[in-house]
Amino acid sequence: MANQMKTRLLHADREEDIQTAGRILKEGGLVAIPTETVYGLAANALDGTAVSHIFSAKGRPMDNPLIVHISHLSQWGGLVREIPERAMKLAKQFWPGPMTIILPKSPVIPGEVTAGQQTVAVRFPENAVARAVIDAAGVPLAAPSANLSGRPSPTEASHVMADLNGRIDAVLDGGPCRVGVESTVVTLASDPPRLLRPGGITLEQLQSVLGNVEMDSAVMHPLASGAKVLSPGMKYKHYSPKANVIILDGDLSSYRDYVNSHCGPGTVALCYTGEDAGLNVPAVCYGSREDSRELARNLFDALREVDRKNAKTVYARCPKPQGVGLAVYNRLIRAAGFEVLHLG
Ligand code: TXA
Ligand code: MG
Repeated sequence: MANQMKTRLLHADREEDIQTAGRILKEGGLVAIPTETVYGLAANALDGTAVSHIFSAKGRPMDNPLIVHISHLSQWGGLVREIPERAMKLAKQFWPGPMTIILPKSPVIPGEVTAGQQTVAVRFPENAVARAVIDAAGVPLAAPSANLSGRPSPTEASHVMADLNGRIDAVLDGGPCRVGVESTVVTLASDPPRLLRPGGITLEQLQSVLGNVEMDSAVMHPLASGAKVLSPGMKYKHYSPKANVIILDGDLSSYRDYVNSHCGPGTVALCYTGEDAGLNVPAVCYGSREDSRELARNLFDALREVDRKNAKTVYARCPKPQGVGLAVYNRLIRAAGFEVLHLG
């Protein structure tokens, strides 16, 4: 089935295309839709068979649960067992927006969505096109990032086409994503609340509403083999270009010295804007050192760009793990398979 179908390219500025996307989803099909974080591969979250097709289209391991997307706060109550007060406080502060909240699930959520877990992840996206498609479908939408499993998440419709053309019913082009990394995932099913994946809403912002929030060790560190995982997504190799990515930790002059003395054919520098001068290798600049939101927005396209340059080895500059920089760090260390070299 996957690989055979014709994938339609729809345009978010055409109202009839939004309705077409909604109709395909209502009928059990798969449509990639824009959100403010990354493109999502959507299916009717209440239809277990439709949801199972997401896993085959992406090549996603079946034990990795999906996020359910809503277009009105009032839809949340039907998807979870109850909404505790601290959950409502968080939602009022940061929804609609790039944050996902995990709570014990209601029986309407099929096991395919939660990979058999008793909790469900819900997100109310800010992106107007995403919300219009949910409204047009008339059901909540389960949607992981719309990439082939293991590849960098898509932040433009062309990225989705590069990975999933022929495997899904349609892609709805709504332009580039504003945030560029996936949503912050926080679970309120444990006490204290726990950050499972950093994103556009920072740990500091969560703490300002919830008080104590623990950071799961998988955010910064590789999982010990056999460790019990709260967020299964963190255990897989992720965000990887075909090239071998190595993070170099140090100042600009030691970065430049290292790259220039360790380069060969196929070496590419992944660096901050304005730092490519003086490097003897091709460079991809992904944003200003001072602006971690810009780095987040451009990171996944930059990881695809090094592949388009046929890179074999990529030496990357990586921000400090603070604020939105924590989200960039979390994605880049996974792309690098946790390979970090500390310079001088
Ligand atoms: O920004 C986003 O969150 C994007 C857009 C499309 O909304 N979606 C996204 O989905 O990034 P995905 O499937 O690529 O990432 C979902 C993450 C995974 O790490 C998964 O393990 C975790 O959320 N997750 C989902 N449900 C969970 C649950 N019940 N318990 C623990 N972790 C869960
Ligand atoms: Mg993903």
